[in-house]
Parts: sequence; structure tokens; C-alpha cells
Amino acid sequence: MNQKYVHGYDAREGSRLMDQAATLAEILHADTIYAAGSKVLEAGCGVGAQSVILARNNPEAQITSVDLSRRSLLAARERVAASGFTNVTFHQADILRLPYGDDAFDHVFVCFVLEHLPNPGYALRCLHRVLKPGGTLTVIEGDHGSVYFHPDSRYARRSIQCLIDLQAGMGGNSLIGRQLYPLIKSAGYRGVRVSPRMIYVDSSRPGLVEGFTKNTFIAMVEGVKDPAIRSSLMEEADWDRGIRDLYRTTREDGTFIYTFFKGVASK
Ligand SMILES: C[S@@+](CC[C@H](N)C(=O)[O-])C[C@H]1O[C@@H](n2cnc3c(N)ncnc32)[C@H](O)[C@@H]1O
Repeated sequence: MNQKYVHGYDAREGSRLMDQAATLAEILHADTIYAAGSKVLEAGCGVGAQSVILARNNPEAQITSVDLSRRSLLAARERVAASGFTNVTFHQADILRLPYGDDAFDHVFVCFVLEHLPNPGYALRCLHRVLKPGGTLTVIEGDHGSVYFHPDSRYARRSIQCLIDLQAGMGGNSLIGRQLYPLIKSAGYRGVRVSPRMIYVDSSRPGLVEGFTKNTFIAMVEGVKDPAIRSSLMEEADWDRGIRDLYRTTREDGTFIYTFFKGVASK
């Protein structure tokens, strides 16, 4: 799995995931509230960026957060402890082979994980097994095809396309947001509702310019420079221009728009 994860596991990626979570907490999480005492499975917790938010918003829920990566789990455990939360337990586990019985959880939460899996429908079915009848599934994913910006730049669009192509080459799908409804429905869940969560950024919103456009989105694209050039997807000079043009959208007269998708369903 480690080689098959397009963003990798280095410190800069960990810090990017934290920026992403902190900046988007309100728009993505405000309506994820679990009743006191509920058992929640967070599948693919990474370095704990969402675990901290889940724990803060649901102090009376018991959260079990799993990931394949031992290193990410260590970081997640430290982060949650440093934030003072005691309602999260961490386990190293594979979503596709969960070490839990049928109907073990009241709720399942998955964020930015399905886009990296070759068979997201199968992963959703594995999660369905451990969910109690009547329990809920929440899935949050992005869709890199939802990006547009001003000033427009074909170089910037090509650099984003490199990320889309590289992730697809590893068996992932960074355009998965638009597919959440059919994916969740065909995995056997009921009452599927998907809501788009648009992020609109201009220079009157400096927190989003830094936390989202620069430190989340552009950082993610910059992270695939080496494989993009090595695979001859782009010439280095064109790539550099694409990245410069993405930063250009963060200036006084620039704008940047991206849409996440949040799906909620029950078993
Ligand atoms: C982009 S990170 C997202 C982490 C976190 N949910 C967040 O939003 O910050 C994707 C995570 O999914 C984990 N992952 C991928 N496939 C997995 C699997 N089959 N079982 C468990 N974790 C998996 C990766 O190790 C990685 O930490």
C-alpha cells in the first residue's frame, strides 16, 4: 500500500492533511454529529487530521480509528492525545479485512480514502458488514475535475491533470466525488444523500488562500512533480509554469474554486 499511495507519507504530506482538515472543518464536518455513547469507526484515519475534529465534535462518542500505516497511526495517536481527547482508540487494520464482527459499529466515517482504492465499491461493502442495521455511513471525497480558477491557465490545468493521471495509474480515482451516489447505493446502503460542498476562495478570505489553495491544493499538485516529469507527462518548464500559474490565482485579483462531495446513507 505504501508505494501505491500517490501523496506518500512524508512530513510535508502530514502537514498538508492537517491544513486541509483545519481549514475545511466547518464546511465538511459541522453536520457530522453522533449521539452520546455511539460507536464510530473512522476508516483510514491517516495522521489523525479528521480524528481530532470527530473527537472534538463528538466528545461522548467512542471512536475507533484504523489505518494501514503504522507510522501514520503513531502520529494520529500523538495528535489526539496532545489535543486532550480520550475518546479515540487506534488500531492498525485493513479496511478490506476489518478485525471486527458483523454489526459492530453505530456509524462509519470515511474521508479522502476511497479515491486511493482500486475497488472502492468493495471497500464500502466491507464497511457495510461492520455497520449495525440502521447505522449510518458518512463518506467525504474530493473531485479534482471540479477545479476552476482565475486567471485561467492551460499549464495549471495540465499540472492538475498530471496528478489525476498518476493517481489513476496507481489504481485510484481523484474524480470520485461525482460517483459517490452510485457507488454508495450499489454497495447496498439505503437513503443515500450526497451534498456538494463548494470551496470558493478569493483574497478577501486569507485563511482559505493559505490553508486551502496554497497549503492543501497546490501543495498536493506540487507533490507529484518528480513522477510527472519522470513519466514525461509534462516538460519541466511547462510544469513550473503550471505551478506558478496556480500560485497566481492566490493573488489580490485571483480566485480558486473546488467542490468536495459528502455522502450520507444508512444500512
Ligand atoms: C489521504 S489519506 C486520508 C487520511 C484521513 N482520512 C484524512 O482525511 O486526513 C488516506 C489514508 O487511507 C489509508 N488507507 C488506504 N487504504 C487503506 C486500507 N485498505 N485500509 C486502511 N487504511 C487505508 C492510507 O494509509 C492513508 O493514511
